Formats: sequence, C-alpha cells, structure tokens
Amino acid sequence: MRAYLTIFSIVAAASAMTPAFADNIDDAIKARQGFYQLVKHNAGALFGMAKGDVNYDAEKASAHANNLKALAHMNNSSVWLPGSSKEDRKGKTRALPVIWSTYPAIVEKDKAFKEATATLAASAGDGLDQLRANIGALGASCKGCHETYRAKDF
Ligand code: HEC
Repeated sequence: MRAYLTIFSIVAAASAMTPAFADNIDDAIKARQGFYQLVKHNAGALFGMAKGDVNYDAEKASAHANNLKALAHMNNSSVWLPGSSKEDRKGKTRALPVIWSTYPAIVEKDKAFKEATATLAASAGDGLDQLRANIGALGASCKGCHETYRAKDF
C-alpha cells in the first residue's frame, strides 16, 4: 500500500494562484494527458490484436505490455497538482475534483491498472490466447477509473 501511495500521490502544496503557479498547473495537466495518450497508444495496440483487428505479433504484444507496465509504475505525483481539476481549469481537463476530495481512494483504481499491466507484461507475448485471457482486466481498469474520476467533457 505504501508503494502505491508514493507512486500515485498528490502533491499537497496548493499555494496562491500566481501566474507562474497557473503555468505549472497547465503544464502538469498537459503532461497528465500526454501520459494517458501513451497509455492509450500501447493499450490500443493490444486491444486491436485481442479483437483480431490487427494480426497478433508476440514481440509487439510483449513490447506494448511492457511499456504499459513501465508507464503504470512511473511516479507521476507531480502531474496531480491541487488546483488542476476540471472545476479549477475549465475547458482544459476532465479530471474531476473528487480525485482530490476523496484522495487516496483513486489509488485503488491505479492499483487495478498496475496489476493488469503486470499480468499482461508476463503473458502477452505467449500467444493470442494468453493475451485474450488477460486483456479484459486491463480494459476494466481504465473504465473503473474513468467512471468515477474522469468527466465526459472538458
Ligand atoms: C487511476 C485512474 C485512471 C486509470 C487507471 C486510467 N485512466 Fe485514463 N484518465 C484518467 C483521468 C483522471 C483522465 C483525465 C486527465 C485530464 O484531462 O487531465 C484520463 C484521461 C485519459 C485519456 C485522455 C487524455 C487526453 O489527451 O485528454 C485517455 C485517452 C485515457 N485516459 C485512456 C486510458 C486508458 C486506455 C486506460 C487503461 C489502459 C486508462 N486511461 C486508465 C484516469 C485514469
């Protein structure tokens, strides 16, 4: 639990919204969204193979799954600055304020994501059946977090 908290922890240092601080916030939001674009890129390749839209390739499947595992284990605490919710920065982010008001509840969702990526990293290169057996947990982990913590619109 301690490890999860450090990896997905929220910097508790909101200070006055000076212009420099607002820049930091917008920078953190962009980095957060860039992070999830990379997640989507790698997960999308695996979803495509699992569905049969793209031919299964063991080496590629393994590379994407290992990338996801590495992404899931990054210490991203600096991209979750207080003051960077949809309520604070309208039009720029879909991160709901409940992330901060109920923290560390979101850590549980991140834990499911980490576990799904670890299982896939260990199995996605072992054949299409293995990928298919384990891809569901990955999709569920995205959905599980988005349902509660990501708004539909910016
Ligand atoms: C622990 C929670 C959590 C998990 C797990 C998670 N996401 Fe997200 N995701 C978010 C939040 C919060 C945002 C909104 C970020 C923002 O707009 O600042 C987001 C945004 C995104 C975006 C939009 C990025 C952009 O450019 O605006 C994509 C795409 C995405 N997630 C894909 C995924 C996929 C695919 C998975 C699973 C493989 C996943 N996410 C897992 C919380 C999560």
